[in-house]
Amino acid sequence: MSNPPPASSPAPSDPRPAPSPAQQQHTPAGPSAPALAPQKEIYNPALKLGGAALPAGGGQDVTVRLWAEGLTRQYSMGTSKLDVLRGLDVDFPAGLSCIIQGQSGSGKSTLLHLLGGLDRPDGGRVMWRGESIYGWSRNKLAEWRNLNVGFIFQSYQLLPELTAWENVDIPAMLARRGSRKKAEELLEMVGLKGRATHKPRQMSGGEQQRVAIARALRNDPELLLADEPTGNLDPKTGREIVHLLLALQREKQKTLILVTHDESVAAMGHFRFQMRDGQLVT
Ligand SMILES: Nc1ncnc2c1ncn2[C@@H]1O[C@H](COP(=O)(O)OP(=O)(O)O)[C@@H](O)[C@H]1O
Ligand SMILES: [Mg+2]
Repeated sequence: MSNPPPASSPAPSDPRPAPSPAQQQHTPAGPSAPALAPQKEIYNPALKLGGAALPAGGGQDVTVRLWAEGLTRQYSMGTSKLDVLRGLDVDFPAGLSCIIQGQSGSGKSTLLHLLGGLDRPDGGRVMWRGESIYGWSRNKLAEWRNLNVGFIFQSYQLLPELTAWENVDIPAMLARRGSRKKAEELLEMVGLKGRATHKPRQMSGGEQQRVAIARALRNDPELLLADEPTGNLDPKTGREIVHLLLALQREKQKTLILVTHDESVAAMGHFRFQMRDGQLVT
């Protein structure tokens, strides 16, 4: 004779569905609950992509882990104020590439810095997996940035006294897991085999940007933020760099946000935006 199960146990055939990620996202986290909220799954019509078509074969559902809500940024210029971002909303589909164009001074770099945790908005939020990144402590923000964001700048931003492999290894050293071997493998991947001990001044602009790309990938971040990465390069070298970036984005399914003036580059991404009047439009 077996005892009946306690009344509170769910029956083995409990028909209630498991909570969806969206439901879980809105569950308040208890003190000991894991901090990471799930991503939001979005059905295309809700996506703030201005009607951009999803890539062929991509289906209608996309995952969004990085988004901005009502972002504002203002600079004080003496007594006057300059409104650079004016309540900007955008969702960035994970694993795809977004190209941002716009006139000089329209706020592209300001936006990229905010998305990557390098600045602080005056209003609105930058969201990562359901959490507001500027609600975190400085340490948590810095750690998130180092592990989840790879930056590529127009001016490469390499440290002149370090060799190529040392520059590539910086993000890993900050995370206390440096490895010359891994840095050299990345250099080989970006076409710089044999240049590991060169210093930046011993390399061309295109080679320095390859080092910067390898550095951006060093901690295998999910986000790649590239701010006019071809701005200091001749057109042919610039195209090679963009092809390399896009190939790596696709191969490793990174979320790439690339700012560029180059019309031929803009056509190569999955999505395309213009920065205009402090908003992103298509
Ligand atoms: N730290 C700052 N202080 C004052 N004005 C700034 C600052 N940074 C950027 N700006 C101004 O904000 C505007 C947007 O700059 P930016 O985001 O660099 O534009 P973009 O990258 O599209 O060329 C420009 O007019 C620029 O001069
Ligand atoms: Mg800029």
